[in-house]
Amino acid sequence: MELGARAAVLAGIGSWLPPRIVTNEELAGELDTSDAWIRTRTGIGSRHVSAPGTATSDLAVEAGSRALKSAGAAEADAVLVATTTPDRPCPATAPEVASRLGLGTVPAFDVAAVCSGFVYGLAVASGLIASGSARRVLLIGADTYSTILDPADRTTRAVFGDGAGAVVLRAGQASEVGALGPFDLGSDGAFADLITVPGGGSRQPVGGDRYFRMQGKKVFRRAVAQMAASSRAVLERTGWTVADVDRVVAHQANQRILDAVAAELGVPAGRVVSQIERVGNTSAASIPLALADAALGGGLRPGHRVLLTAFGGGLTWGSTVLRWPDVAPVAG
Ligand code: COA
Repeated sequence: MELGARAAVLAGIGSWLPPRIVTNEELAGELDTSDAWIRTRTGIGSRHVSAPGTATSDLAVEAGSRALKSAGAAEADAVLVATTTPDRPCPATAPEVASRLGLGTVPAFDVAAVCSGFVYGLAVASGLIASGSARRVLLIGADTYSTILDPADRTTRAVFGDGAGAVVLRAGQASEVGALGPFDLGSDGAFADLITVPGGGSRQPVGGDRYFRMQGKKVFRRAVAQMAASSRAVLERTGWTVADVDRVVAHQANQRILDAVAAELGVPAGRVVSQIERVGNTSAASIPLALADAALGGGLRPGHRVLLTAFGGGLTWGSTVLRWPDVAPVAG
């Protein structure tokens, strides 16, 4: 195989949602909000929330084992966990996940790019494969936002849910169905404070605010503009037009954001994958969860030309493309 022709090919996909479902009505019983407000402003009807004591690695192991099963693989050469809610500040969550999955002493590390973490992780995994450092990579997007939300913050409590999604990427040829295309990645740290957990890091090691804070309105506008711009950039690099795209799988932050990105790009609503009504915003897990859900539901079919685009804290963003392969997702 020629080094230059090596590409990362999607070989399996798995997902995991904690069983407990929290409806808008349940939130409205506790906070000053309503089903009507949440549905109208976000399109979310319910979200999954982990049982107290559950850590992100617990979700990651569930999704990771399902992705390996979907790929028919018992081994991987590297494990990446994209997350904003690691089990602890140190060490990273991925080594423990690799160990619990029985993958031995393979390289394992976390990817910290908030809601863009899964797309950043795809880019890192592609690089490991293209350089010949790995032949099979397990990438897991997993988040347990219920552990960092302010119980009194009606806005973030309405939006975020817990979950994990994972893919297995194998070395293959760029011309194969399932091969990841080029990437567009970016960041703008001048707006780091728009989405932040201020405390618990080296800036405020003690006494700081440990809850997730988001300036929703300011983030909304940037999310739409940046996902549309990044999508255009990656399509141009791929040589696809917007009309070539069969499915857009964007980070599931808000149904109004998905609608606005589609309108901005000129993609018909029927080509936009959305799972947000049932899961809310699951951060790094949202794209693999939506892919698995759409593939299982028949909305995403082998051969479809798929555009992936994400936006999140950092600020960060990223996009890539692939033709959807004939894989059988394993969901839980
Ligand atoms: N229930 C009822 N009212 C609520 C509410 C809730 N759950 N959350 C906020 N409100 C109120 C606000 O207090 C505000 O009231 P005011 O006008 O009296 O001040 C009003 O609704 C409007 O709030 P605002 O924050 O402007 O709402 P919004 O329409 O922007 O929706 C988000 C909030 C978070 C849903 C939306 O801004 C969003 O999705 N932002 C982008 C998130 C994103 O893209 N993240 C990407 C990375 S994760």
